[in-house]
Amino acid sequence: MSDYKRFLVTAALPYANGPVHIGHLAGVYVPADIYTRYLRQNGKDVLFICGSDEHGVPITLKAKTEGITPQDVVDRYHTINKDAFSRFGIGFDIYHRTSAPIHHETASGFFRKLNESGEFVEKTSEQFFDEANQQFLADRYITGTCPRCGNEKAYGDQCEKCGTSLSPMELIDPKSMLSGNAPILKETKHWYLPLDKHEEWLKKWILEDHTEWRSNVYGQCKSWLDQGLQPRAVSRDLDWGVPVPVEGANGKVLYVWFDAPIGYISATKELTPDWEKYWKSEDSRMIHFIGKDNIVFHCIIFPVMLKAHGEYILPDNVPANEFLNLENDKISTSRNWAVWLHEYLDEFPGKQDVLRYVLTANAPEAKDNDFTWKDFQTRNNNELVAVLGNFVNRTLVLTQKYFDCKCPEISSLNDYDTATLSEITAIKSKVEQSLEVFRIREALNEAMSLARLGNKYLAESEPWKLFPTDPLRVASILHVSLQITANIAILMDPFLPFTMKQLRGYLNTSEMPWSAIGAVDLIKSGHQMKKPGLLFEKIEDAQVEFQVNKLLETKRANLAKAAGLAIAKPAISYDEFSAMDIRIATILEAEKVPKTQKLMKLKVDTGLDIRTVVSGIAEHFEPQALIGKQITLLANLEPRMIKGIESKGMILLAEDNQGRLIFVKPEEGIGNGAVVK
Ligand code: 2FM
Ligand code: ZN
Repeated sequence: MSDYKRFLVTAALPYANGPVHIGHLAGVYVPADIYTRYLRQNGKDVLFICGSDEHGVPITLKAKTEGITPQDVVDRYHTINKDAFSRFGIGFDIYHRTSAPIHHETASGFFRKLNESGEFVEKTSEQFFDEANQQFLADRYITGTCPRCGNEKAYGDQCEKCGTSLSPMELIDPKSMLSGNAPILKETKHWYLPLDKHEEWLKKWILEDHTEWRSNVYGQCKSWLDQGLQPRAVSRDLDWGVPVPVEGANGKVLYVWFDAPIGYISATKELTPDWEKYWKSEDSRMIHFIGKDNIVFHCIIFPVMLKAHGEYILPDNVPANEFLNLENDKISTSRNWAVWLHEYLDEFPGKQDVLRYVLTANAPEAKDNDFTWKDFQTRNNNELVAVLGNFVNRTLVLTQKYFDCKCPEISSLNDYDTATLSEITAIKSKVEQSLEVFRIREALNEAMSLARLGNKYLAESEPWKLFPTDPLRVASILHVSLQITANIAILMDPFLPFTMKQLRGYLNTSEMPWSAIGAVDLIKSGHQMKKPGLLFEKIEDAQVEFQVNKLLETKRANLAKAAGLAIAKPAISYDEFSAMDIRIATILEAEKVPKTQKLMKLKVDTGLDIRTVVSGIAEHFEPQALIGKQITLLANLEPRMIKGIESKGMILLAEDNQGRLIFVKPEEGIGNGAVVK
């Protein structure tokens, strides 16, 4: 860390086509934030860069489905996500966006430079084209039958049923999602980045010079390099993105993965006129925090772009996390299988640090991991409350009780006190060693050992028993405990920034630098502190049950959706059911309501009375065929005026996923007025 003058920490730009969830936090943003806070506490010159990735096909698709513009989509999610990150204390220096003019200029300029210096190759190939809409089709805009599993709704890039990656040409019977027609093949020209030409230096740079990279990152890079790299298209036929800055390239934009990483540069430019210092000096250290699906882009493609451009530094490390699952299932936006940050903030107000803690303690650094609500509760109750909260609380409450919230004088330190205090420095260096190599989860565990040390010290010293007989010894014990507490306030700050701020409030101290860790006079004798409160509170079973039930509802809804059925409704009580008066009745007369398509006026005998009911079934049945039929009627539905006719009740029908309607009627004839229950 010490050789570098400044740090440029980037966190992957999330797509602005949906809200961010716990997978995002655990994979990228919490570890990046912890590392950055650690650098800042060390007085380093550091910029922490992020923003919304606002281009790409999924955004245009979402806009189409919702009948709004892509700009509307990105405006919505940029705001939601920026807010969620800030409420979780992710301390970006800038949360920029790739639809900003400065980004368009920067990305265009970058492309132009590469193009002018002959770094691209141009190639013409045949691609699917929708004649009715006069446009080329992105892979996601083409559906057809999967050649592997026969799924008729496979996409041009992937079959979601069997998981196979596809190219649109492989689909059987491809159709355009825009017009529904079979697309034709048409020639189109694109710019390619010849990655193959860069293989040699990449091999040396990664495989020889960066053996320290995490094994998942190194391994993926090695496998790409071993297989041999291919030229990659960096432009697309699309109307949303950064236009290709070349004459005659109308209707073509830069591929989203070409412009997005340049987003780190444009964000830095927006942030500071000094941006070049961070991007172009060898004494700057660039670190990209990403998820594992972004490895090739950050370790191979973007470095090739930077190298081809010249002047820019390359990343010194790319800590990529694996994926976080939720309750044993892959997190999925389309299946609503996620814990959304904006919902968590509403449901657990003020508990940002609990989630930060759990996601770090269980971070998917070396393999995919599972988030469960039970584990969330256990870690909160058994670690945050029972270890960290308990130690700090006992120290502060005893100091309040015996010394009126004033740090007591120390009379003398015994060997046990000295040995305990000397462990602080050892813990500090373990935390540092782990953070330096991006083992954030291990670092948190090491940091927690300071609270464990404190608990052990208090439990063995038992000041509460000694006070009546030896108040001087108690003063020393609490003095020592307060020094440990103050050290925790610094050491834990990168991990739990909200709670440590609260703790500094109780201690009545201001922020202290990392270098102060290990000092045993952080709180001076006589220092007046504030009345303490609790740092953490227990998560109750009911809160966990609520969350688990919410996920069960999602699962049910997804099953119904997959089977093409209506979503199950929430449970009702027996009383709510028995409030409905459902009876058998017979249709006596039927006629279509004039000037309407769907409405039929029926006269029915309910056994109790003869009444009129208007029903939306005219497109499904002929009036004559209905006369004399027994049906089921919800008889106590409030009367309603429909097209000037008073309708009293509702006829019950079953509707399947094709929209077919069938009467719900008794199996055999039964007297009118018979009650259904
Ligand atoms: O995977 C993603 O969510 C991408 N939007 C990450 C882009 S990172 C960078 F290159 F901008
Ligand atoms: Zn398939």
